[in-house]
Order: sequence, then C-alpha cells, then structure tokens
Amino acid sequence: MTKIRVGIIGYGYWGPNLTRNFYELPSVDLVAVADLNDERLKQATAKYPQILAKHSYQELFELNLDAVVVATPPATHFKVAKDCLEHNLHVLVEKPMTLKSEDAEELIKVAKTRDLTLMVGHIFQYNTAVHALKKYIDSGELGQIYYIDAARLSLGLFQPNSNVMWDLAPHDISILLYLLGKRPISVSAHGMACVFDGISDVAYLNLNFPDNVSAYVHVSWLDPCKVRRITVVGSKKMAVFNDVDTENKIKIYDKGVETPEYTNGFGEFQCNYHSGDITIPNIRFAEPLRQECQHFIDSIVNHSEPNSCGREGMEVIKILEAAQHSMSNGQAHEVIAW
Ligand SMILES: NC(=O)c1ccc[n+]([C@@H]2O[C@H](COP(=O)([O-])OP(=O)(O)OC[C@H]3O[C@@H](n4cnc5c(N)ncnc54)[C@H](O)[C@@H]3O)[C@@H](O)[C@H]2O)c1
Repeated sequence: MTKIRVGIIGYGYWGPNLTRNFYELPSVDLVAVADLNDERLKQATAKYPQILAKHSYQELFELNLDAVVVATPPATHFKVAKDCLEHNLHVLVEKPMTLKSEDAEELIKVAKTRDLTLMVGHIFQYNTAVHALKKYIDSGELGQIYYIDAARLSLGLFQPNSNVMWDLAPHDISILLYLLGKRPISVSAHGMACVFDGISDVAYLNLNFPDNVSAYVHVSWLDPCKVRRITVVGSKKMAVFNDVDTENKIKIYDKGVETPEYTNGFGEFQCNYHSGDITIPNIRFAEPLRQECQHFIDSIVNHSEPNSCGREGMEVIKILEAAQHSMSNGQAHEVIAW
C-alpha cells in the first residue's frame, strides 16, 4: 500500500491532536512537523522521535510530501495554505478557513486549477451524533423544524487575535449548514467585550434560513459552565445533542404543544401539551477527529470532494463576515450575498 506522506504545520494546542491521529492512521506516513516555536518542536520530537522537526513550513516543500495540515493561527491560514497548494500539496486547513471570503475563494481556485484536495477542519461534519441528529430531522420524525438553538460556552480559551465568534461559531454554523442542508438568508449578531477592550468574548447570532427556520448561536469564552449543546425544536418532537455528555449524546423528547382549532374567547383557550417518552438512541461514537483525518486521506486517494470542502469553508466565512458587519453596525440584519 502506498502511504500518503503528510506534514503538520503548527504544533500548538490543536496540532498535537491532529498529529496523533495522522500518526496512527495506517495509510499515512507522518513525515514532519513544522512550527516557528522550537519548544513546541521539542515536544513533538520527544513524542514522535522518528518524525522530522522543521522550523519553517517552507522546509516541508523539500520532503516530497503529498499533503499538509495547517493548524496555525487563523490569520496565517490563507498565506500558508496558498503557498502549500502552489507547491502541489493537498491541504487540510483548520477552521476558520480564512479571515476573508475573497481569500477562501482564491484557495478554492488554486486547488481546482491544480486538481488538489482542499478540506476545512469542520470537525462536527465527522461526528456520528450530528449524523444521527440529521437523520431525525430528515426523516420528519421531529415534524416541521421551528428553530435550532446552539450554545458553545466555557471559561476561555481567550485568543489574542480573534473574537469568540470567529473562534467558536464556525463549528455551529457548519453544523447548521449540514443539518438544514440550506444556506441562511440573513444574519444579525451582537457581541460583548467584557475582558479585553474591543475583543468580543460573548456573542449571540441569529440566522434566518428559508422556510421560516430560525437558528440562534450563543458562543462565549466567559461562562462558568462548559456547554456544548444543539437543541432542535420541531412541531412533533424536540432533540438535544449534548456533546459534554459522554454516554447520552442525543436525546429525543416526545414533547410538543398543539393549539386549539377554534376558541370563543380566552376562557376556552387551552393548549394541548403532550409530554411522552425520552428516547436515547444508541450511537456508536468514534473519535470525530479520527474520522476527519481519515476522510481527508480518503478524499485524496479516491479523488473525491470532501464533505467539509473549500466551498463549505467559504460559506461559513461569508456568514461570519455578515455577522461581523452586523455586530459592528448595531445588530442590523445583514442579507448574505451568495
Ligand atoms: N477543530 C477544532 O476543534 C479546533 C480546536 C482548537 C483549535 N482549532 C484551530 O486550530 C488552529 C490552531 O489553533 P491552536 O489553538 O492550536 O493555536 P496555537 O496558537 O495554540 O498554536 C498555533 C501554533 O502554530 C505555530 N505557528 C504560527 N505561525 C506559524 C507558521 N507560519 N509556521 C509554522 N508554525 C506556525 C505557533 O508557533 C503555534 O505553536 C486554529 O485555526 C484554531 O481555530 C480547531
């Protein structure tokens, strides 16, 4: 079996997780790690003595690699990813793909021209619990979807050059695009900068999807509780994906309300509430990052478009751009130019 030769760029907080997963994939030869910080390189080679450690990512171009993974800070993604594509390497770039949609578009163009795989690290696309949630929505079991509420909260990790929306909301936006299979029409956003001047550490987004489906995203670096939750409220049932719960990630609540067909006045106005069983589907949970890494390799080998392809990455950036505009303009609803 010919192994795919991979290099990792950026061995900070997230890079080690990617490195471990690619190192353990049988179809991968993990050749090298590049990081500007020599201390981080020492950590990498202490753990994986057989891999090469390079200070600059450009040194990877001399190693006859097939692919690279870009896990550097978001502001560097465009330059590093473009340079790698221009050296004929397949690229998996972490979220957010870029900080500007024009840059995302440019990466897609370069990858297409050179017939290379470009994938974005939207990890929830590879999460079996999210797949199960989509099946419940698509099967009609939840009924008509009224709204989806997403909450991703904890204390930290504060990022020096980003606000909480650009750091955390890519996950929720990519989950919404996947679950609904549609792009939002408009978005409004409100941010608060509590700890550092000018850097929002709490943000609320409201996205309007076709067919009157609303979605709400609450992201925070300043919350006492760790929350990773998606709630889907339908006309027949409601579903909750709680990623913090290791045992029962998805619960389907047979709960709902029906309004009376006709009333003569408030005295006769009585809603019909039903509260039935709570179902906990048995989900075979595999490490999402492992699935993501394998999917990148499979997309290269099979020459197929990844689920979290460059276009999907760019869609997330367009939504974030519109949300940022709204945040800076007093929460006005921004129509997204698709
Ligand atoms: N998918 C997820 O769940 C997830 C989780 C955390 C972070 N991330 C993403 O991963 C990326 C990295 O985040 P992090 O928290 O690990 O950041 P980090 O700051 O901890 O690490 C980044 C590393 O990149 C190195 N670096 C910076 N510029 C470089 C360059 N030009 N060449 C080589 N190395 C360079 C730094 O020295 C540092 O070690 C971000 O895009 C972030 O959004 C994704």
